[in-house]
Amino acid sequence: MTWLITGGAGYIGAHVARAMASAGERVVALDDMSTGIAGRLPADIPLVRGSFADRALLDRVLAEHAVSGVVHLAARKQVGESVEKPLLYYRDNVAGLTVLLEAVVAAGVRRFLFSSSAAVYGVPDVDLITEETPCSPINPYGETKLTGEWLVRATGRAHGISTACLRYFNVAGAAEPELSDTGVSNVIPMFFDRLTRGEAPRIFGGDHPTPDGTGVRDYIHVADLAEAHLAVARNLDARSPGGHEGGDLTVNIGRGEGVSVRELAGLVAEVTGHRVEPVVEPRRPGDAARAVASAARMTGELGWTARRGVREMVESAWEGWCLRHPEARAQ
Ligand code: WQD
Repeated sequence: MTWLITGGAGYIGAHVARAMASAGERVVALDDMSTGIAGRLPADIPLVRGSFADRALLDRVLAEHAVSGVVHLAARKQVGESVEKPLLYYRDNVAGLTVLLEAVVAAGVRRFLFSSSAAVYGVPDVDLITEETPCSPINPYGETKLTGEWLVRATGRAHGISTACLRYFNVAGAAEPELSDTGVSNVIPMFFDRLTRGEAPRIFGGDHPTPDGTGVRDYIHVADLAEAHLAVARNLDARSPGGHEGGDLTVNIGRGEGVSVRELAGLVAEVTGHRVEPVVEPRRPGDAARAVASAARMTGELGWTARRGVREMVESAWEGWCLRHPEARAQ
């Protein structure tokens, strides 16, 4: 079978495409190249340039490559931007998804993996977030991911498609330096950026109700995340398509281990050699004190567990950062 990977030239998409191809799956990547980089993909993975919301293009790609499963990763993902431009987020992440799903139904594709996010939960006050923790997103980005899940599940049930919604926690690191995240919108690249400029990393909030007062998150290595997609893709094959039991799967992708921003800053100092004391600034609006996954479903039902730790995430992210910012290395 062939898997279509939307957003396949992106940071996460290229990791997923490579992991699935290395495991012997046939894959084809679709990417509008807005943030994708063709060089992230090896020559033997075909890359189609265009939008997942272009119905004519989709019909052609699904038929030409005899696609039997879709991994849908292409999306807008900036929380702040989603607050300023909700229509853009609903257009691409929700309206665009309806076009993709219509094409999937028309082509008779029977497997659909959807890239969701811990943002669907909002800021739940629980120690470990399970898939049963109520969803209550607090920004348009999270709303579009939750709406996307509803669309995917409802379509799967109505049309006999096995579906999976993967709720990613905080994704970090890189399998190879050239695959690393080029964005500077998450904490690890933001720390690197400050250190490269000779500035102190900022810790947003030192008065959270956590052991050291800083925010606690569940970081997952992107190479582990990619392997989780492979495990889920193979699991979908074993599930009854479109049945009322077993036809859809919703699963957290995290490690179940909390790491505080202060701990992360310590690791970043060790790995980079830039030993600059962070400055503590006020909390960002909407930031949860703690967001840590229960990984029990992924481990129990799929027999899959993340293997890579936070140090490996920071080290591999740093190698990627230094490839693009050679001046960043400490003298
Ligand atoms: C992590 C922690 C910050 C920068 C966001 C989205 C989520 C998902 C991933 C998806 C927090 C703190 C950060 C800095 C800091 N997006 N921090 N100093 O906010 O957990 O999740 O990205 O596609 O939907 O909400 O990730 O990396 O921004 O922050 O202290 O310079 O680091 O306050 O506690 P977050 P993050």
